[in-house]
Amino acid sequence: MSGNITLTMIKPDAVANNYIGPILSQINNAGFRIIAMKMTHLSPAKAGQFYAVHKERPFYNDLVKFMSSGHIVAAILEKDNAVEDFRKLIGATNPAEAAEGTIRKQFAESLERNAVHGSDSDDNANIEADFFFSQLERFSG
Ligand code: CMP
Repeated sequence: MSGNITLTMIKPDAVANNYIGPILSQINNAGFRIIAMKMTHLSPAKAGQFYAVHKERPFYNDLVKFMSSGHIVAAILEKDNAVEDFRKLIGATNPAEAAEGTIRKQFAESLERNAVHGSDSDDNANIEADFFFSQLERFSG
């Protein structure tokens, strides 16, 4: 059965471009409920830990540098089929390939500076939600 939460980050490019409001608005309009949210600034160590799964990839060091370069907004989103539906809403990782109307098509600058993160599986959604939020910081229902 598909899970009902996903973890998003509004990345440093989108925060710097003043897109927090428009992005959250589209997330709400698509039927997601924000059940936890915080603005924070990841240290390089924390960004590296979040993206540890990509450690061997050639883009890892640049990704960690970018994700620790400015503020981010992290949030847990609740909806039936959250992971899959959110990935549809944000569009392809590379904004050049993202469908019209998707969040990345509208707000992302490049493959690296791609405005938002979305979990890629239910297991990772839970791991990533735990990375940012304790149970006491979640307000479901
Ligand atoms: P995200 O969904 O947050 O997960 C991993 C991130 O790595 C991805 O978004 C991109 O921002 C970034 N990235 C940078 N270069 C690449 C690449 N060549 N392929 C995939 N992801 C990349």
